[in-house]
Amino acid sequence: MDTKIFVQKDIGERETEELAGIIRAGGLVAIPTETVYGLGANALDPEAVKKIFKVKGRPQDNPLIIHLSSEEEIKDYCLDIPDTAYVLARRFWPGPLTMVLKKRDIVPDETSSGLSTVGVRCPDNDVTRAVIRASGVPIAAPSANLSGKPSTTEFSHIMHDLYGKVDAMIDGGSCRVGLESTILDLTSEPPRLLRPGGLTVEQLEEAIGRIAIDDVVYRQLKDGEKPRAPGMKYRHYAPDASVILVRGDSAAAAEYINAHTDEHTAVMCFEGEESMYRAPRVEVYGSLQNMETLGEHLFSALRKLDTEDIDTIYARCPGESGIGLAVNNRLTKAAGYHIVEL
Ligand code: TXA
Ligand code: MG
Repeated sequence: MDTKIFVQKDIGERETEELAGIIRAGGLVAIPTETVYGLGANALDPEAVKKIFKVKGRPQDNPLIIHLSSEEEIKDYCLDIPDTAYVLARRFWPGPLTMVLKKRDIVPDETSSGLSTVGVRCPDNDVTRAVIRASGVPIAAPSANLSGKPSTTEFSHIMHDLYGKVDAMIDGGSCRVGLESTILDLTSEPPRLLRPGGLTVEQLEEAIGRIAIDDVVYRQLKDGEKPRAPGMKYRHYAPDASVILVRGDSAAAAEYINAHTDEHTAVMCFEGEESMYRAPRVEVYGSLQNMETLGEHLFSALRKLDTEDIDTIYARCPGESGIGLAVNNRLTKAAGYHIVEL
């Protein structure tokens, strides 16, 4: 298939209409958001949604988030909306928060994978919101990576995974947050965090008080266990190289990693630690003093190392406060729970 490329800064009214036309006609468009790139289609069109699952190689039972252009649209697709949803939307939208609410029948089972709920989010990207508005329908979009692979946070990533498989792509440069949205289930009381992400627990609790944190955020699922967010049961974010997470202070980590290093080893570490490692490839992915930078570069570091001749990536992992919770969650999954505690 021919893939037409649009560059965000060159998109005016005419291009927005063209992109909206592709969505309305049931086509696929890779869209930039502040979190990660998405693989988008008309959320109300079962045939269009099926194409997303096919291209991504996504299991059918893993529901899609629908992207709205404003909080006014929540009522068009959701039912029994608690006031909390509006408090959160007003405070954090557009932004990296997905709210799980009871869905209206207009949202097809193909999109919600048969669940009675749907995740809604309003992305912080002007062009993407303009395309949603112009198309007149919400855009269903999972992260734009092929299933199981690290998420796509740079235009080069979607070129790699999706060129020739979608009708259009929008080059929006690097994604500012770099981690997917935080998913909060508002159908339970207190609201329950299903996936940590770009918006922190601290920010949520400051706005609405205590929330529950689903324990699968911290641990591996048991055999046959059904998580509340169906996606949690699949292997995720995994590069071709194996990833091993190393927790502990930097001196102990360096000693351990150096003792296990060969010519195909890479280290993903914090700024200032790089000279401690003797691995042939050391990738600084951000700073502990500014943990947002770790989130921002996590997936791009994994993807970059995957283009090199590397078998094993030792990754340093920050603490769980703030954005650190989401960084931990993604890294432990990328590592398939292979963790060294020092
Ligand atoms: O930042 C993001 O959220 C990105 C961008 C593109 O918006 N999207 C994204 O989608 O991360 P995806 O499909 O890669 O992850 C969505 C997660 C999956 O784990 C899925 O199971 C869960 O959200 N999910 C979707 N709808 C749900 C629902 N109704 N109830 C519980 N979990 C749901
Ligand atoms: Mg994903």
